[in-house]
Amino acid sequence: MRIVLVGPPGAGKGTQAVRLAKELQIPHISTGDLFRANISQKTELGKLAKSYMDAGNLVPDEVTIAMAKDRMEQEDAVNGFLLDGFPRNVSQAEALDELLKAEKIKLDAVLDLEVPEEEVVKRIAGRRLCRNKADHVFHVTYSPPKVEGVCDICGGELYQRDDDSEDTVRTRLEVYHTQTEPIIDYYKAQGLVATISALGPVDEVTKRALDALKRDE
Ligand code: AP5
Ligand code: ZN
Repeated sequence: MRIVLVGPPGAGKGTQAVRLAKELQIPHISTGDLFRANISQKTELGKLAKSYMDAGNLVPDEVTIAMAKDRMEQEDAVNGFLLDGFPRNVSQAEALDELLKAEKIKLDAVLDLEVPEEEVVKRIAGRRLCRNKADHVFHVTYSPPKVEGVCDICGGELYQRDDDSEDTVRTRLEVYHTQTEPIIDYYKAQGLVATISALGPVDEVTKRALDALKRDE
């Protein structure tokens, strides 16, 4: 299956993507995680991306599309993928369509996670990430680690993302409404969108997502 996951910052895209990718046996491709890996490896791309990410703005399309294309062309993505955080504006969606067309393949679904704004603010404020692995994600109240500041899975140090400050979150939400939300209409016109509520326990949201994807088949 080829799936795009959309939703506001803090909706739980990363959290759900890990579970859905495992269940559907397709790789989870997160442009945010790819940028953060470049930042921690201090690459040129990382340096460029950091300046945009810290401000809550989108990294320029040219570098983002090239990075996503590179990742989608890796062997493990030949039979499907779950895109998390890409595309993030209409020109990225158009570029993705071109890439798929060239390969004679199509998207199967666009899963839209709906969460009220006050909830995403709470989710982002309490989020803690593991320094060792991008998908070890905790929340100080909703899914707290057993020992404060320590990853339950690998013992790594937990940290807060630089772009999770209140000011940056406000910009990220605005960017979501103005630039990313229009892709939902773009994909609705292609009959691909399945909207689900991302409120409630993580397992329930996963179940809702899998049901919606089945209905879409
Ligand atoms: P990115 O990393 O994609 O961030 P985002 O879209 O802002 O999304 P988040 O990672 O903040 O949230 P999420 O929805 O994954 O939530 P999570 O599962 O962690 O992008 C960051 C930046 O990179 C962008 O601002 C931009 O600069 C750049 N970028 C990335 N892609 C780009 C692109 N295509 N083009 C240009 N620039 C790009 O969950 C959040 C918290 O809630 C966690 O603590 C979790 O434990 C908790 N939680 C999850 N689900 C639940 C639940 N059901 N109940 C309670 N708590 C929950
Ligand atoms: Zn860890």
